[in-house]
Order: sequence, then structure tokens, then C-alpha cells
Amino acid sequence: MSEISAEQINKLYGYMKNNMSINKFMKKFEISRRELDGILLACSVYGKDIEIVPNQEGKLVFKKKTKQVLYHLNKQNIHDGKLINNKICVVSDTHFGSIHNQLHLLNRIYKECYHRGINIVLHVGDMVDGNYPNRPENPRQQFLHGFDEQAGYVVDMYPRVNGITTYYILGSHDETHYKNGQATLSEWIPRCRKDMKYLGQDTGEININGVKIVLDHPGGGCAQSLSYKPQKRIEVLESQHKPKILLIGHYHKSYAFTYRNVQCVLVPSLCDKTQFQQKQGLSNALGAYFLDIYSDYRGNIQYFEPEEILFKKEDIWDEVGKDKNKVNKLVIK
Ligand SMILES: [Fe+2]
Ligand SMILES: [Fe+2]
Repeated sequence: MSEISAEQINKLYGYMKNNMSINKFMKKFEISRRELDGILLACSVYGKDIEIVPNQEGKLVFKKKTKQVLYHLNKQNIHDGKLINNKICVVSDTHFGSIHNQLHLLNRIYKECYHRGINIVLHVGDMVDGNYPNRPENPRQQFLHGFDEQAGYVVDMYPRVNGITTYYILGSHDETHYKNGQATLSEWIPRCRKDMKYLGQDTGEININGVKIVLDHPGGGCAQSLSYKPQKRIEVLESQHKPKILLIGHYHKSYAFTYRNVQCVLVPSLCDKTQFQQKQGLSNALGAYFLDIYSDYRGNIQYFEPEEILFKKEDIWDEVGKDKNKVNKLVIK
């Protein structure tokens, strides 16, 4: 196997499963062990770490390490004092108002931010679940209906932690309120919450100590390959408008990779699988990212470590939204 593209890596990685025999994989793709080792090395470059370990019968199988992804762009410079370090947190798709929302998990992320001393959280859209008058099943899937109830919930219940500012964009679900009656969260949240700042509908930009970060909430479904649509998005950006970091919400998927020198992160949701996703057979990743960024004085990233936090099945509360009293608002003064 000669040159291997990100697309091919995605495909091969998708085929590898935990506990799958490596012989089965090598046979399927007609490759040698040496070539397999090369593929695993290429996978690790794209932030996908996989080990080969013996199973109980002594057969060699794959074991994916999906907890943490590292990019060592220029690690030796980190401690020389010339680089600027920013630690931020990224969340997305809270869908407040949906019976599947998981406010207690958002609270856990903000508590972790507090303990880590993080003071910037970016939210990549679909803050609320919205209102779809042409979907008759919609009201049964929500415990908060309409703009007032959902916007009020954000104002009242979104975690409020001393020292943390949340910068957010609005996504496809938030926009339904505008389409229905020109009501916008962008008007009301910042009026009521000084710790929450609006960056834009669908897309927004923020510069953190010279590092340009773009937040994007596209529409439409997800392509088979997780990186395909983000790559297309980066390709259409003119070089002077290219961000250093591109954060993408909406897909409820978790994935981090580098493309054309842009650090790209698909940000998972903080809402359990919806009826729509269930019917469509779509997966739903629940979690967040902590980003550790080292940049030079020009805002160029020298080291980037996206730490993926994924919640497990037992962390998820079933239809928690229906019982408003189950979750207290997180306030740290
Ligand atoms: Fe969403
Ligand atoms: Fe969305």
C-alpha cells in the first residue's frame, strides 16, 4: 500500500472493530502484517489510536483507544515559555426542551471546567430543541414547548459558574423559533445572562489570544465518512479566512482530525438519542471536548490536544427532561 488518504484511513478504521481478529482484517484487504502496522501508524497520525492485543484464546485482535487524541505538532516548544497556552471547553447540541436533554451532564462538564480553571466554553448550536409545527409527533418529544418556555429554561438553568464565559452560536433547531415568529435566543439570552455571549446564527468566529476559531452548525444529514463534510467545508475557505480550529456541531458525532493545517473537531451532543435518530438508525455521541492549545505570537498552533469526553450508557438519564425537579441548576459563585 503506498500513499494513504484520510478518506481511506476513515474507511479502514471504521472496518476495524474491538476484538476483531487481525488475520480477518489482513485477509479481507489482502495485506501483510507489515502493511497493517503501517496502517495503524497512519491511523494514529489522524488521532485514531488502535492497539493489537492477544484475546483470551491468544489470538491477536484490535483494541481501539478512543478516549484521548493527541497531535504533536511541535512538542519540544511547549515548555520554552514562548508559546501561549489556552485551555478551552467545547459543548454542543444541548436541545433544551427535548425530553432527552441531559442537563446533569452539561453540569458535570461545567464543574470539570471549574476544577481545571477553564474560563471559556464554546457552544456550537442547537441550544434548544425548537418548534416544528409540521411534525405532529414533536410535542410528545418535548417537555418545554414554544419559545418562551425554552428560552426561559436557558436563562434559568444554563450552568452559571464564576469566571466562565460561554460563547455560543445558534443552530438549525434554535432557528425554528425565528422561522415561526421571528423570536431569537440571540436577543434574549445575552440580555438576561451576562456570562453568555452570542457569536452568530449557523456560524460564528472567535479569536482567543490570536488563535482564530470558527464555530459551524451546518444543516442536512451526515456523510458516511465523518471527515467528508468538514473537509469540503475547509476546502471552500479561502486561505486568509481559514481558521486554525474549526468546531462543528449538528451531527451529534465525536471526531477530531487535522486537514489542510486546520484542527477540526466534530463536537458530540449533550442530548440522548431522539425518536428521529432512532427511526433513521443514526448513532448519537454524548460528550464534550477539552482543547489544550499552544500557539505562537502569530496565532499559529504549535501543539493541539483535543481531549474527548464521552459519556457512557449508565450516565444517561431516561427522559430526564420530563422531571424538571430532578436536576438542579449548577451555580458556582
Ligand atoms: Fe442537534
Ligand atoms: Fe442541528
